[in-house]
Formats: sequence, structure tokens, C-alpha cells
Amino acid sequence: MDKFSITGPCRVMRGEVSISGSKNAALAILAGTLLFDKPVIIENLPRVRDIDTMLNLLKSLGSSIQFFDNKKTVKITKTKKQKQFASYSIVKTMRAGILVLGPLVAKYHKSISSFPGGCVLNGNSGRPIDLHLEALKKLGMKYEIKKGYIHAKSNGKLKGNVIKFPQISVGATEQLVMASILAKGKTILKNCAIEPEIKDLTKFLISAGANIKWIGKRTCQIIGVNSLNETKYSVMGDRIETGTFCVAAALSKGDLVIKNFDPKLIKTELSILKKLGANIKLSKNRIKIKGPQKIKNIKNITTKEYEGFPTDLAPQFMVLLCKANGNSSITENIFQGRFLHVMELQRLGARISIENRTAKIEGNTNFMAAEVMSSDLRASAALVLAGIVSKGKTIVSRIYHCDRGYENFENKLRKIGVKIKRLR
Ligand code: EPZ
Repeated sequence: MDKFSITGPCRVMRGEVSISGSKNAALAILAGTLLFDKPVIIENLPRVRDIDTMLNLLKSLGSSIQFFDNKKTVKITKTKKQKQFASYSIVKTMRAGILVLGPLVAKYHKSISSFPGGCVLNGNSGRPIDLHLEALKKLGMKYEIKKGYIHAKSNGKLKGNVIKFPQISVGATEQLVMASILAKGKTILKNCAIEPEIKDLTKFLISAGANIKWIGKRTCQIIGVNSLNETKYSVMGDRIETGTFCVAAALSKGDLVIKNFDPKLIKTELSILKKLGANIKLSKNRIKIKGPQKIKNIKNITTKEYEGFPTDLAPQFMVLLCKANGNSSITENIFQGRFLHVMELQRLGARISIENRTAKIEGNTNFMAAEVMSSDLRASAALVLAGIVSKGKTIVSRIYHCDRGYENFENKLRKIGVKIKRLR
């Protein structure tokens, strides 16, 4: 298994970073191509492991896939050999695999899909999909679970309905939007998640003729159509990759220009970075950020559903707050298991204590290099950031977690002055 070797502290971090396409928007959009009869072209895909996994899943379901533009563009065409079996061997490595369930039942009125896998972010309670299944039942999907597979079917087309999610869920919202596209009649989804990646999915489907309207902040109306048209769609930039590089600049007195992402989508994060002392100038699809000489501490950051502070940036901001000139805390409200990286940061010298869902972070940490191990995608990025400001050579293992969601991570970091190399 590959490792990163990072020699720190990085003295001069400056230059330009090009943000790749959004992994999470692309995963939902690729699952949505199952709703089509006609070919679909998707551009600006990030070259990351999860995208390869989703493309393999689509291929196993019968879609034929042509690659262009260094595999950042795909043309997906249905074949006569469409199947509806989403195998455990593919779905177990990535939770987003569950997103093919709704489109398969919407389109083919049947599916045998494996329970999902992916990052273990909820401790032993795993990553449930009860919100997906309960809501799909309200559209007329019937299912039973046998040997880890969801055997689902519908009696003809799914039927529109009014559904209020008991809890806000990104995946369940994406699942139900897609399942409603070809249903008979109108569906109203209430208490939806409204992450930008979900808006990117609805913009993609609307570009192919789907009848979707956001009629309230968290209320989405879908009127079923018979079929979708051909379309070509370019995926939005990756919000969490952007946040990760903003933290890198703030952490190391860096001076970065971050391109290909709309800064309006990360207002909350940018306002916190300004409070910490970063100097930020924004323009269309461009963020210029200079890290402060002294990082100010923040009493508390609480993760919330969008437009709140995102759980996926908590590990990265935790590293930043370790270097702040005073104590801070982060409260995690979305996942129980989001503090797996704390022990690894403590090996680098961090002084963090956990009380329930709150991590109390002492500032003015002198990070010292060590061997550390990634536990999930965003934790691995946080360990790399800590290595950048640690004195000595930090080795980060299990970086396959990083490869799931960060395209070309070490090359982008090397280009802006970080001494990092991949050990195979
Ligand atoms: C999406 O996961 C993202 N993944 C996650 O990013 C992100 O952390 C998360 O949304 C929150 O923003 C993708 O988009 C592929 P949820 P998802 O459903 O859809 C519970 C990354 O790093 N829940 O909003 O799984 C769930 O356990 C990944 O790119 C149920 O209880 O998140 C969690 O506690 C990590 N039942 C909470 O809701 C359900 O049926 C929010 O989960 C579904 C979810």
C-alpha cells in the first residue's frame, strides 16, 4: 500500500492550484445516467478512485463508456445488455454505490443492489440507508433484504408522492430526486439536503429535460417525464478540495491562487478563515488567499448541514486550530466517527481532548514528524496538512483513502512548494 513522505515544515507555499471536478457531484450525476436511454456526455470528472469505482459499477450494469480528454470526459451509452444487479464486490468499497438503486427501479422497475460500504464515519453504527429505503417505499418501491442485497421492484412506474425526510440526508435527497424523475405524476420532497453537489445534480437532470423545481429552501418538486434527452454536462469544482487548499495556505503563511471553483459556495468556511486571520480576495471562480503570520483561535466551530460548516472540512480545520494562538473547539453534529484522526494528530504532537461530540484543541502546537495512518478520506488529507507543518519527515500510510477523493494530490502540493513524495 502506497504512503506519502512529507518533509516539513514547508517554508514557502505559493502558486496556483487548479481545483478538479467535484467527486460527490460526479458520483450522483454518474448514477443518474442510468435514467437515460440516449447517450450522455459528462465533463470535468476528477480522476479519483471513487469515480473509477462508479464507472466500473455502471459498466457492470451494462452501460458502455468511452473516455476522452485524459479520462476527464466520458460518453455513457446504454446497451441492449442492461442489467440491474449492483454487486457487493464493487459497492462495498464506496457508499455512493447505493445511489444506483433509485435510478434502476425508476427505469427498469427492479434492482438487486448490495448494501453500501465506504468510509466508516459512524463508528459501529455504520452508514445506514433507512432514510433512502423508507422514502423509496413511498414512491411505490417494494423490497426485501436477502444476504446483504436489497431485492427491490415496483409494479410498473414509480408513483409521485409527498415525502418529508425525517432527517436531512445528502444521499437520500439525491436518491429520491433521481427516483422521481420518471415517476408517474408529481413528487414533493421536503426537508431536503441542499449541498451545492445536489444542485449540480438537479441542474444536470434539468439540462436533459427533467421537470425539477426548487419551490422552497429545502423543498424540491419533481414532475415525472417519460424519458430524458441527450445532454452534455460539466461537473462543478470540488468544494472540499478547495477548502483543503485554503487551509493549507492559512496553515503555512502561504500565498495561493485557487482556481476553478465558485467561492460563493463556501461563504461559511471563508468567513471562518478570515476570522482566523487569513487575507482573502475573491473573483469569479478564483480565490486568492494569504495565510496570517499569527493564526487566531476560534472558540467553537460546529459542523452542520449546508449552508453550515461542512463535516468534511472538520479534520483539516482541526490541524489549523492546533497552530492557533489560543484554544479552540470543534463540535461534530453529522457523524459520530469523525474524530478517528485525532489519535494520529496526537502522535504528531497535537493536544486534543474529546468530550462527547466536541474536540477541545490546544493551540500553539509544535508538530513533530512521525509515522501516521489514514482512517478515512478527509482524515488522510488532514494528516498530510499536519505533515506539511511538522518538523522532520512525516510518513502517512493507507493513502488509498486520499486517492479516493483527491486528484493528483501530491503533484498539486509539490507544485506550490511542499516537499512530498509517494512511496510505492
Ligand atoms: C455525503 O454522504 C457525502 N458523500 C459525505 O462526504 C458527506 O460527509 C456527507 O454527505 C455529509 O455532508 C457523498 O456525497 C458520496 P448523509 P452521505 O446521508 O450521503 C445519517 C466525503 O468525504 N443517515 O447526509 O452518506 C448518516 O449516517 C464523504 O466525500 C441515516 O441515518 O451523508 C449521517 O450520520 C464522506 N440514514 C447523517 O445521516 C440514512 O438513510 C448524514 O448522512 C442516510 C444517512
